[in-house]
Amino acid sequence: MFDRLTRQPEDPLLALIGIFKADPRADKVDLGVGVYRDEAGHSPIFRAVKAAERIIWESQDSKSYVAPEGDQLFLDLLWSLVGGSAPSVHAAGVQTPGGSGALRLAADLIRQAGTGKIWLGLPTWPNHAGIFAAAGLEVETYPYFDVPSQTLQLDRMLEALQRAAPGDAVLIHASCHNPTGAPLSTEDFARITAVMAARGLVPLIDSAYQGFGAGLEGDAAGLRAMVAAVPEALLAVSCSKSFGLYRERTGALYAVASAQAAAETARSNLVSIARTSYSMPPDHGSAIVKTILDTPDLYADWSSELETMRQRLAALRRSFAEALGGRWSNTIAIGVQEGMFSLLPVTPAEVMTLREKHGVYMPTSGRINIAGLKLADVARVAGLFKSL
Ligand SMILES: Cc1ncc(COP(=O)(O)O)c(C=O)c1O
Repeated sequence: MFDRLTRQPEDPLLALIGIFKADPRADKVDLGVGVYRDEAGHSPIFRAVKAAERIIWESQDSKSYVAPEGDQLFLDLLWSLVGGSAPSVHAAGVQTPGGSGALRLAADLIRQAGTGKIWLGLPTWPNHAGIFAAAGLEVETYPYFDVPSQTLQLDRMLEALQRAAPGDAVLIHASCHNPTGAPLSTEDFARITAVMAARGLVPLIDSAYQGFGAGLEGDAAGLRAMVAAVPEALLAVSCSKSFGLYRERTGALYAVASAQAAAETARSNLVSIARTSYSMPPDHGSAIVKTILDTPDLYADWSSELETMRQRLAALRRSFAEALGGRWSNTIAIGVQEGMFSLLPVTPAEVMTLREKHGVYMPTSGRINIAGLKLADVARVAGLFKSL
C-alpha cells in the first residue's frame, strides 16, 4: 500500500521552526512561529494554568472516560466567556481537540447537513482551506484585505457574499485576524451580519485569539452580536493562545440557534461525528480551563496575565510601526492592527534576503508574529525592513 503513496511536503510554517533552530547566529529573530512570546523570547505557561494543574493533580481521582461531547461544565463556562449570556441565544457544544478539531468537526457537520460550500476570506489562516477541502467541502473565497495598502476590503467582501447561495457557510474570524491583524469594527460586523441574515448564510466563526486584541469582552462583542442576529451559526473556539495551552489541544465547537431544540439536534450530530473520528477529546487542557474559569482567584490572575500580554503586543506594534516610518504606503496601520499577526507587503525574495543575510525569519507570505520581536530588537529589525 505505502508504495502507492507520494511523499507530502512538510507544512512550510512548521518547517520554518526547524530551519530557525539550525541557524547558529546569536542575533537571529523568529517572526514565523504562531505562538505568543514574552520579552525573553519564551512561550510561558500562565501562572493560573500551573495553579490549576496543581489543584487537578491533587483532586482528580480517576482517568476514566468522560464523554464524546467532553466535560459539560467546561463547555458551559467557556460558552459564557466567549458566547456571553443573551437569553435568546441557544448553544449546544462539544469539546474538541483544539480549534483545528473544532473547525474539522464543523466542516463534517456542514457536509452532513448537505451544504456543499464554504466561503473563506482572502487571505486567511492557511490551514482553513485544507481542513474544509479534506472534509469534502467546496471552498470559495471572498476578498478581505489588500496587503499593499494594508486595508480591509469590506465592500468587496459584501459584494462577493451576494453571490453566495442560501445555506452556504461563511468563515469569519472573531478577532485578531490571522494573518492580517485587521480587525472588524462593530459596524463592520453589523454590515456582514445583515448580509448573512438577508441571504440565509450560516456563519462559522473562528475564535482563536480572545483577549489579544481589544480585550476579553471587546474581542467577543462582534461575534456575540452576530450569533444573536442570525437563526443558525457555528462557533469554533481555540484555547491554545488565550490560555497558552497549545499542546494540550483544547477547544470547543458550539452549534448556536434561536431555539434550543435545533442546537441540540446539531450537537447530537457533532457527537456522532466525533465518536467515529477521535471518539473522545483529551481532558487535561479542558480541566485546566474549567478550573480557571470556575475559581475567582485564578480567573483574576489569568485575565490580568492575558491583559499584560495584550498590552505588550500593542506596545510592540506601536514602536515597530514608528520605527518603520513611511516604509510602505500605510505603515501606520501595522501599529493599530490587533493580535499577534501582520501581513507585510514584502516579496518572497525580500523574505529570503532577511533570512539568509540577517537571520530574520518569517514565511514567504510576509506574515510576521509581532510577539516574536523584543522591544530591544525593534529598531534593528525595522531598519532591516527599511534597507530592502
Ligand atoms: C485563525 C486560527 N484558527 C484556528 C487555529 C487553531 O488552533 P489550535 O488548533 O492550535 O487550537 C489557529 C491556530 O493558529 C488560528 O490561527
